[in-house]
Amino acid sequence: MTEEQIKEALGNVIDPDLGKDLITLNMIEDIAIDGKKVSFTVNLTTPACPMKEEIKRACINAIVHLVDKDAIVEPNMSSKVQQSKQMEKDETDTLSGVKNIIAVASGKGGVGKSTVSVNIAVALARSGARVGIVDTDIYGPSIPTMFNVRERPNINTRRKLIPLEKYGVKLLSMGLLVDQDQAVVWRGPMVSSAVKQFLNEADWGELDYLIMDLPPGTGDIQLTIVQTVPLTGAVIVSTPQDVALDDARKGVAMFRKVNVPVLGIIENMAYFTPPDAPDKKYHIFGKDGAKKLAERLEVPFLGEVPLEQSMREGGDNGKPVAADEELGISGKAISDISQRVAQQISIRNANAEPTEKIEIKFT
Ligand SMILES: Nc1ncnc2c1ncn2[C@@H]1O[C@H](COP(=O)(O)OP(=O)(O)O)[C@@H](O)[C@H]1O
Ligand SMILES: [Mg+2]
Repeated sequence: MTEEQIKEALGNVIDPDLGKDLITLNMIEDIAIDGKKVSFTVNLTTPACPMKEEIKRACINAIVHLVDKDAIVEPNMSSKVQQSKQMEKDETDTLSGVKNIIAVASGKGGVGKSTVSVNIAVALARSGARVGIVDTDIYGPSIPTMFNVRERPNINTRRKLIPLEKYGVKLLSMGLLVDQDQAVVWRGPMVSSAVKQFLNEADWGELDYLIMDLPPGTGDIQLTIVQTVPLTGAVIVSTPQDVALDDARKGVAMFRKVNVPVLGIIENMAYFTPPDAPDKKYHIFGKDGAKKLAERLEVPFLGEVPLEQSMREGGDNGKPVAADEELGISGKAISDISQRVAQQISIRNANAEPTEKIEIKFT
């Protein structure tokens, strides 16, 4: 076997998401051949790649079928997360080590946006990605509770905030910095400028994904925030019920108006399964509402999270279900969803040009 033959064979393996072969995508390195044994590294675009096993099998098959049927193929599955074109264009020095920023939004409050954000962050970190989460909800910060952290972040020598760290996730919350009793009387412009400062004055270091938990709604505050940072895209969380869906639609419209790609919609509280009847599903808030909305708006549907007591408890106790050693129903659902989010980011980064920023001014 020669290196050339191996490359030729792997040139037939197509990444199903990116639609190109692994050689063209520059994903293969360190090919080593020793008799019948061949090893190489496959650099996927995310450690949370849902296609990892499929691609690995395809590599083995390609070499066994096209080069030597007795070959012993040992692909080493690794990853390098690409920086979004949006980030490449950006000049903010504090965010320069961050490859992708993803906003998690909902039209309506209480649909589980923070719960879903926190769990996605933990799931991505568990897959091996470098992850941060930032809570920009000044009126109702939930990340301190959901991670059970209260300390005030320190300042480094360059006078930047140092994020705290838990479950492998770097985190910052307005709730750690601003006295809650004062914040409730802040007006919109004050909130916007505080959030802006907060985002630009933190030292995130090197991150593959920075998740931004937005305040609920689609008003001035949300608009300012999404225009302050170079977003790779936005994810919308909704429950299946009509009132939430109406607001989710407005969320999609807001991001489209300012040219931020919508990476997909997540349906939270999709159904309830009683612990004593695990094969039953009760659709308390309606069925498939968010899924149908995603179809109608032509954005990817990223999956459904069941209504589960452990999810609520995990949030209240500062121990997200995605961090559980053995994943339960919602933990598994979140893990799948986090992979689909990473997948959409990779697809977006591989195919798309950066969007032109559209500034919307308001007074
Ligand atoms: N899938 C779920 N199953 C059970 N409880 C949930 C689920 N998602 C959210 N919750 C609970 O619902 C409440 C609101 O969730 P939260 O994430 O704070 O919503 P939002 O950030 O959209 O306002 C919290 O008490 C949370 O624990
Ligand atoms: Mg919240």
